[in-house]
Amino acid sequence: MTIAPPPLAPPLGLLAELTHRCPLACPYCSNPLDLERRSAELDTATWLRVFDEAAALGVLQLHLSGGEPASRPDLVALVGGAAKAGLYTNLITSGIGLDRARLDGLAAAGLDHVQLSVQHVREDEADRIAGYRGAHAKKRAFARELAAAGLPLTINAVIHRANIDAVEALVAEAVTLGARRIEVAHAQYYGWGLKNRAALMPTAAQAAAARASVERLREELRGAIVIDYVAADHFGRFPKPCMSGWGRRSLNVNPAGRVLPCHAAETIPGLSFWNVQDRSLKEIWEQSPAFNAFRGTDWMREPCASCARKDIDFGGCRCQALALTGDAANTDPVCVYSPARARVAAAVEEAQGGAADLAYRRYQPAPAA
Ligand code: SF4
Ligand code: FES
Repeated sequence: MTIAPPPLAPPLGLLAELTHRCPLACPYCSNPLDLERRSAELDTATWLRVFDEAAALGVLQLHLSGGEPASRPDLVALVGGAAKAGLYTNLITSGIGLDRARLDGLAAAGLDHVQLSVQHVREDEADRIAGYRGAHAKKRAFARELAAAGLPLTINAVIHRANIDAVEALVAEAVTLGARRIEVAHAQYYGWGLKNRAALMPTAAQAAAARASVERLREELRGAIVIDYVAADHFGRFPKPCMSGWGRRSLNVNPAGRVLPCHAAETIPGLSFWNVQDRSLKEIWEQSPAFNAFRGTDWMREPCASCARKDIDFGGCRCQALALTGDAANTDPVCVYSPARARVAAAVEEAQGGAADLAYRRYQPAPAA
């Protein structure tokens, strides 16, 4: 008797990359090196249909991201449509380009939550990392407006060699800005982050100190702020369960409508990505060859195939496996059981050689920092 596979559960979250346009130029951006042009972006009606289809499919949370989602003039209409569809809406923003009137419009349209990126606590360093003079002052002003508009705030602090020693100050800044939560997340090495890996990778000692600071502050600030922490997996024994498993919990729709299992999926050769302009989100979720390529555990090779952790970390990250071993179906080499583990050590070693220049992610010319 053959046992039927369990039915496919619906996705919980949808990341809508509304645009790749952005005033900032962060060198760890997860967007692809080849950014989508404005002329390729989905129109308002198509996004609204996607949000309706997402809600019907079972998606609960919609993350409106980019680039900078405020670059879309129709942002209020998009939030209104998503809220009407019954989705919890989370705006992931640099805080640049959203004045009080627009914020009030977003709140009235039903926006539930805002995540604001912060690069450092020192203005000069924050602006240098963001590649935009005056960015940090604008972010502080934005956080004040947000509080006045009554919208809850999470601070996103991506940490790397240039700001990792300021983790404690970043948490203090988040409290000052009125955030209820801060996500302290080590830079991930995809897209622009991979291009800048040599400049971004901290030392093992810095990563350990950051973790210790977070653990201590979680105790000290209990009740004042929640601190989430995304570890630097290059210094761990096991990889992260990237995306909570490929094609298992969430999907990304890029500005041109291609539906991706993760940010960096388009780096994997041989996968083809279906587009919301041609097919329904349900059809894509259930039948797209790209979503089914690494879904579940049947695709795994050894050592993952017979490992007790395969339903815990899902073999790690496909895109990291590709970047470090040349084959996305290999075990993520961060894993101590991976035969290619030495490549992680080599990447760390290579990054300790000295200061590398940052390659900024420029969509369009911005004021020099
Ligand atoms: Fe995870 Fe694969 Fe390593 Fe096992 S062998 S811990 S499943 S990455
Ligand atoms: Fe693509 Fe991890 S970023 S699977």
